[in-house]
Amino acid sequence: MNDFEERLATLEPDLHDTVSRVYGAEAAPEVTRALVEVARAAHDARPAELRALDEQRLRDPDWFQRPSMVGYAAYADRFAGTLRGVGERAAYLRGLGVGYLHLMPLLTPRPAPNDGGYAVMDYRSVRPDLGTVDDLRDLATTLRGEGISLCLDLVLNHVAREHEWAVAARAGDEAKRAYFHVHPDREVPDAYEATLPEVFPDFAPGSFTWDDELAGWVWTTFNDYQWDLAWSNPAVLCEFADLILSLANLGVEVFRLDAIAFIWKRLGTDCQNQPEVHLLTRALRTVARIAAPAVLFKAEAIVGPADLPAYLGVGEHAGKVSDLAYHNGLMVQVWSMLASRDARLATYALQQLPQPPSTTAWITYVRCHDDIGWAISDEDARAVGLDPVAHRRFLSDWYSGSFPGSWARGLVFQHNEQTGDRRISGSLASLAGLEAGDPQAAARILLAHAIILSFGGLPVIWMGDEVGLLNDIGWADVPDHAADNRWVHRPVMPWASVADDPHGITSGLRHLVDVRRSLPQLHAASPTEIWDPRDPGVLLVVRRHPDGPLLAAANVTDREAWVSADVLLWLGLHTDDLVDALTGERPELHDGAVRLEPYAAAWLHAAPSSPA
Ligand code: GLC
Repeated sequence: MNDFEERLATLEPDLHDTVSRVYGAEAAPEVTRALVEVARAAHDARPAELRALDEQRLRDPDWFQRPSMVGYAAYADRFAGTLRGVGERAAYLRGLGVGYLHLMPLLTPRPAPNDGGYAVMDYRSVRPDLGTVDDLRDLATTLRGEGISLCLDLVLNHVAREHEWAVAARAGDEAKRAYFHVHPDREVPDAYEATLPEVFPDFAPGSFTWDDELAGWVWTTFNDYQWDLAWSNPAVLCEFADLILSLANLGVEVFRLDAIAFIWKRLGTDCQNQPEVHLLTRALRTVARIAAPAVLFKAEAIVGPADLPAYLGVGEHAGKVSDLAYHNGLMVQVWSMLASRDARLATYALQQLPQPPSTTAWITYVRCHDDIGWAISDEDARAVGLDPVAHRRFLSDWYSGSFPGSWARGLVFQHNEQTGDRRISGSLASLAGLEAGDPQAAARILLAHAIILSFGGLPVIWMGDEVGLLNDIGWADVPDHAADNRWVHRPVMPWASVADDPHGITSGLRHLVDVRRSLPQLHAASPTEIWDPRDPGVLLVVRRHPDGPLLAAANVTDREAWVSADVLLWLGLHTDDLVDALTGERPELHDGAVRLEPYAAAWLHAAPSSPA
């Protein structure tokens, strides 16, 4: 039996079972057969080099979890003009320690507006100004040669109104109409909208859009030109299995499952995080495991803390859904800690999350291309004595710069009049105080990175953050961007000045990445424990490892702060052989407690005993 047949024999029963739980026992054999056919054809077509990669990944399944792994995310055009240009920048990325590159949507979108490429018109071609499918294959090959894995978006909640399925549906093709949620009148849309939250209340209110050609209301969670797909139709699942595997055969290694939380609709709910979302992910991943086991899935589920862990798999789904998922909760807590100069809410909230399966990793990040929404649960806020509404209001005020004394220069994104929610746009550097000229801004930027590099997961740097790029003041000059201020933090890479490093941000970040690489405790499979701060200004993250624990302490305040002696004692970190990996030296101790400078991080562990 060859490898494909072996994997098929092992995994097909699970595929069948998963499919039958979504589409029913009667439909399952047929749907499973169709998926296996897709897998077999893709495997037959898989280039030898990628089959070799499959073998290698099966031998080294933890490749993305290692302390040496750091990711980077960028728009290809804003980073380097074209796909070829990105390949020419591979050495720059390697210099930062990058082993994983997420390029923002680059498959052909509808003509603007297209939500930054998230309204895909053709998944089988590349945006012409960026290059061709051959360029994409070449880029993946070049990057792989440099030890960098390519991640692309798979927009699977919706397609552009101009995608061929939508075009056919508009032309009266019944089979394609059934790829979408279309209703002839307002009855069903109204029933759903009674419990649906608004994603873009400012520029795309409501979740349905009337379309004359369809003579119906079509589901559009995001913009009116992004038509939600009906995943309740198994044909959609088969289409996407095929799309994933054909992109995988070009050399794409990681798929970012865009807006995955939204793909299943259920009346009377917010239509997010439904159980079928995880079953469908599991089915797709099983198909990928059979045909192209090197492939990883990364869930983009920007959801509340209670719903987040399921995306890496809990219970029966552990290890069977996405390999990676954005740790939206950590990102929000980093910003919340910096504004409030207090680590207690973050500590409590992060303690509530279960340990992810040991074969998975969080994507830890400080900024990305999207806005920041204050995903802090009411329960978590109340548990530490905060009024949840007031705290979220404070964060919006702080980061939009309207709170007295704020050093942040962000913009309000999507003010929801009904809920009072105000999300925030802005670059890391501008939100952290660099634009306002705050003297502690660079320290804050490095502290935020120290947290994401030590927390546990695959840390991803957002393009430009490594050089402290400020808000792009000309963001609204592009007419198609003017309505969406997320473009303020999607600047163009200023190559002429990236080496200047006036604030020491690049060198500081490189240092953090270098130190991280040397610490086995920072492997994503090493459990993460959040300890109660004795000093409320210090986040204490413990990483367990057979070599002994590592304590990553972060002072989120502008005063000196302390790691108390009892914490060190409990961890068995005896003060005489204690080392801060970030300085390579023994930390400053007072009565057994470690002193931290304002906004300083310390990665404390016992010095390895010298060989006898
Ligand atoms: C994801 C993307 C966001 C986009 C949305 C709709 O959340 O990150 O930029 O607007 O999906 O595709």
